Amino acid sequence: MSKKIESHLSENRIFKPSREFSKKARVSSMAQYRRMYKESIDKPAAFWAREARELHWQKRWKKVLDWKPPFVKWFTGGRLNVCENCVDRHLTNGRKNKAAIIWEGEPGDKRILTYHQLHQEVCRFANVLEANGVKAKDRVLIYMPMVPEAAIAMLACARIGAVHSVVFGGFSAESILDRLEDSGATAVITADGGYRRGKIVELKTSVDEALRKYKGVKRCIVYQRTGEKINMRRGRDVWWHKEAEKASSSHEPKGFDSEHPLFILYTSGSTGKPKGILHTSGGYLVGTYTTCKYIFDMRDDDVYWCTADVGWITGHSYIVFGPLANGVTQVMYEGAPNYPDFGRFWNIVEKYGVTTFYTAPTAIRAFIKAGDKFPDRHDLSSLRLLGTVGEPINPEAWMWYHEKIGSGRCPIVDTWWQTETGAIMISPLPGCTPTKPGTATLPFFGVDAAILDDEGNECSADEGGRLVIRKPWPSMLRTIYGDRNRYRKTYWNDYKGIYTAGDGARTDKDGNFWIVGRLDDVLNVSGHRLGTAEVESALVSHPDVAEAAVVGRPHEIKGQGIVAFVTLKEGVRTAQTTDKILKGHVAKAIGAIARPDEIHLTPALPKTRSGKIMRRILKELVATGGVTGNITTLEDFSVVSNLQKNLKK
Ligand code: PRX
Repeated sequence: MSKKIESHLSENRIFKPSREFSKKARVSSMAQYRRMYKESIDKPAAFWAREARELHWQKRWKKVLDWKPPFVKWFTGGRLNVCENCVDRHLTNGRKNKAAIIWEGEPGDKRILTYHQLHQEVCRFANVLEANGVKAKDRVLIYMPMVPEAAIAMLACARIGAVHSVVFGGFSAESILDRLEDSGATAVITADGGYRRGKIVELKTSVDEALRKYKGVKRCIVYQRTGEKINMRRGRDVWWHKEAEKASSSHEPKGFDSEHPLFILYTSGSTGKPKGILHTSGGYLVGTYTTCKYIFDMRDDDVYWCTADVGWITGHSYIVFGPLANGVTQVMYEGAPNYPDFGRFWNIVEKYGVTTFYTAPTAIRAFIKAGDKFPDRHDLSSLRLLGTVGEPINPEAWMWYHEKIGSGRCPIVDTWWQTETGAIMISPLPGCTPTKPGTATLPFFGVDAAILDDEGNECSADEGGRLVIRKPWPSMLRTIYGDRNRYRKTYWNDYKGIYTAGDGARTDKDGNFWIVGRLDDVLNVSGHRLGTAEVESALVSHPDVAEAAVVGRPHEIKGQGIVAFVTLKEGVRTAQTTDKILKGHVAKAIGAIARPDEIHLTPALPKTRSGKIMRRILKELVATGGVTGNITTLEDFSVVSNLQKNLKK
């Protein structure tokens, strides 16, 4: 880890936005950034009220901020409809016939929905939900491919005040089941399937498997995407298109309290099952709206494309709510970046004239590996702004992105944030911030970020510590659904009244934040969070497994790969429980993203005398092949030397 920090520190290439870009940008100088930042920190109520007034409130708030640590309320007394702000508002502000979503399916089919058409579809589906008994505050699980209907389903839930919980289409039936049980969902919205790498992902089959064990779902609404034959259970399952035929395309958007729950999104922690991160309405919308406006500097003539899936927070904040609240035109793509080859993204950029492109470092690394011939075949001159999210971007990948994709002309916004923060927290502003490859640079407006040591003192420049946020911000999580104690313990326990992000970081002498990585047992695989505990418990759920320990190892494309050490039960032959079986078992329990890269069968794991697995040793072993740290607390030294021999083989 320290090596990485040193290489960051030696980074002295600085890239400033061009005069031309700055001139047109909303924030065009560092002096303006500093002035606005200072106001946002010194007078948050005035700053955020001004931003919030740009949205439509059915009833104006009484108080901007009500902070009783660790619980916050924003815009109390205000009432709004989030969906009305993302859709209806644009019918009367000149954007009615503007493209809202330009969609391309993986097989190559295309659709364009204007704001007017989006409004009709969302209204129709809001009526469908109500006709099927879904009410305000009911939880609705959404498990969809990347089709416009995924966004329509989320917006329709918001319109009627139902709380959606989107589950990424790559997660397994068991993951769906966990989320159904935890959220107490009463309805599911899914599809027969979706396309990924030329194959059909059978979504409804996974839902069926989960619903065999969870009986709380009264209605399952199925969108027909592939036309494959699926099982429809009478009395429970209905087709989206058949219901929509019966529904009206007008629907009155009722105002909901600013703190009305908007969605639950599950994310991994270091212990136990995934946590249901709860976001509410007014603050979340203001946060995503404002960050889009300043960080992506969204313009009416932009064609914006965020390549995330709606199943992750990036898809919620930067495909659905933030961009649509800004009335932008966006591209949405269903499939894989390498289907039919690694030119697909660049083909889409060229075809639709994408101006703003937001993706993940893991994708950039995969493109680099695939070779320059793919971007070289396409005209990427429409691009004006690039972004990254999900993990620290290595300077080599940053430089490639800058030169090959941005032709050295487009600013790059490296955006640091989390499922919990709801919106971007640390990022350059493209018209003013000098960028250096590998740093997310400076805090966004209202974000009081700092690096603290274990005692709570602020670290000096270049000294590593914990990344914290000292003041509440509008889009922050409100709680962990159904578990206020876990909320307190996870985020507010390290320092009184201060949010701990769980990331290690440092600032440089210019105040730029360099994120080093997670401090807890959370892995970042291809920009996605996975708790080592989750993967371990999936392994141990296999009948032949006695014990398992999981650690991360640096991975060229994925950032981190998953390495599992497994001890089988007495009497189980290793030939019988192959690593292929165990890898498949984890993929089935969680989803393909959790499939371990390596499994090492071992008769014993390194433990302390009190029986605690020493993951630190395993981490060092997989990273360096040896162990240099203090191992005096280790119970049995031979375990380590055996593992070392095994790994060398
Ligand atoms: O470790 C940080 C890393 O991703 C974590 C948040 O993961 P998740 O909630 O899944 O949200 C990902 C998309 C917002 C953070 O705690 N991370 C995210 N963005 C960056 C990052 N690390 C470094 N630089 C980033 N730009």
